[in-house]
Amino acid sequence: MESLLHGKHITICVTGSIAAYKAASLASFLKKKKAEVHVILTKSASRFVSAVTFKSLTGNPVITKMFDASSFIPHISIAQLSDLVLVAPATANVIAKAANGIADDMVSATLLSSTAPKIIVPAMNTAMYENPITQQNLKKLADFGFEIIEPDCGEMACGSSGKGRFPEINQIYGKIIQVLSSKRTTALSGKKVLITAGGTIEDIDPVRFIGNRSSGRTAFAFAKAFIAMGAQVSIIAANVSERALDDFASTFTDSQIIKVRCAADMENAVNEHFKNCDLLFMCAAVADYKPNYSTHKIKKADDNLVLELSRTNDILCGINNFTNKIIVGFAAETDNVEEYARRKLEKKNLDFVIANKVCGEESAIGGEKSSLLLFSKGRSEPFVFPYAAKTENAFNVIEKISELLTERANGQFRRKADAAHIHE
Ligand code: C5P
Repeated sequence: MESLLHGKHITICVTGSIAAYKAASLASFLKKKKAEVHVILTKSASRFVSAVTFKSLTGNPVITKMFDASSFIPHISIAQLSDLVLVAPATANVIAKAANGIADDMVSATLLSSTAPKIIVPAMNTAMYENPITQQNLKKLADFGFEIIEPDCGEMACGSSGKGRFPEINQIYGKIIQVLSSKRTTALSGKKVLITAGGTIEDIDPVRFIGNRSSGRTAFAFAKAFIAMGAQVSIIAANVSERALDDFASTFTDSQIIKVRCAADMENAVNEHFKNCDLLFMCAAVADYKPNYSTHKIKKADDNLVLELSRTNDILCGINNFTNKIIVGFAAETDNVEEYARRKLEKKNLDFVIANKVCGEESAIGGEKSSLLLFSKGRSEPFVFPYAAKTENAFNVIEKISELLTERANGQFRRKADAAHIHE
């Protein structure tokens, strides 16, 4: 089961901003992510977009009135049903009502009666947004535990330019994931995870290089899964798909992304950031060999050219893991996947190895799907994750790792540091 929002009841309160039409795209986006989407429209919002639009997009009835015949007290039932309430777009008016406990329509009554986490997405004219009254109301809501997404800057519907635009849907989605995950306690809650992504590039001369086909999609899928389990993620990205990087960066704006080029840069970046992480997730395809760099473009000649390649450092082997950090390595193999993965677990002293096949019909490289094996220290048989979307498998693998870490923390599994101590 992929979606991080699968089966979650999300209520979108749409209020009377010109950006109300963008809430239709948001509702459709969340529905595609498998959420159960409910919409409440204020009277002025329904002047901008009709209830029929939202009903068609979500498949659920749209609430426009405080009292209707089908349910005696709808604001209580929708408030209780929701896993999350989103006000998008939120006008200065609804922000002021919520900040002052006014409950005179379905939106403001739902905000007052729901105990679910709440996200406010202000979108309005710049002067209204920057007015100290609105700012004070937003601060009040933040102090009461509401999450506020800052509006974007740019050209406004009224012709002026400034802050107040409805943000990108990806950014709202990222905040929803973070807010929902913070309500759940897992072995990864609050943990700092350092993920390496993509393929390194080893330069031959100023125009040529040796690279590999890794796109970083697997790393970004795992990064999302870690965030959904409550972790804070930093990514060291070598050569990755620009689209996958932009998609991730615009969704999870709190995640740090460090760009590197070659294996040596990656090694330096890992060594620098490793000390601050709880878990290192070495997903990148790091070059094993590099050419001797020529500062001049190598000229074509009649003879064949022989490039001499020297070994790069193995980053995982060089990590001094004196502390209780969790280290996860990857094994991308064309043959003998299981055997090589088991060897890697031992040789590189890893907690987990995730193995995948990089040839044949189920090849993981470059595409959107993969099948994975998860090897865990001290367990001979791997956990098998059959061929499916990378996002789905990433989520399932991280849930399993979290479960295994909980077992270890409960003492069912002796930490490697303890084991080393006993052997002394
Ligand atoms: O030994 P092999 O390269 O197959 O191991 C793969 C694992 O080791 C991956 O997790 C990869 O990120 C990591 N690696 C590394 N340093 C290298 C090459 C690979 O840490 N120079």
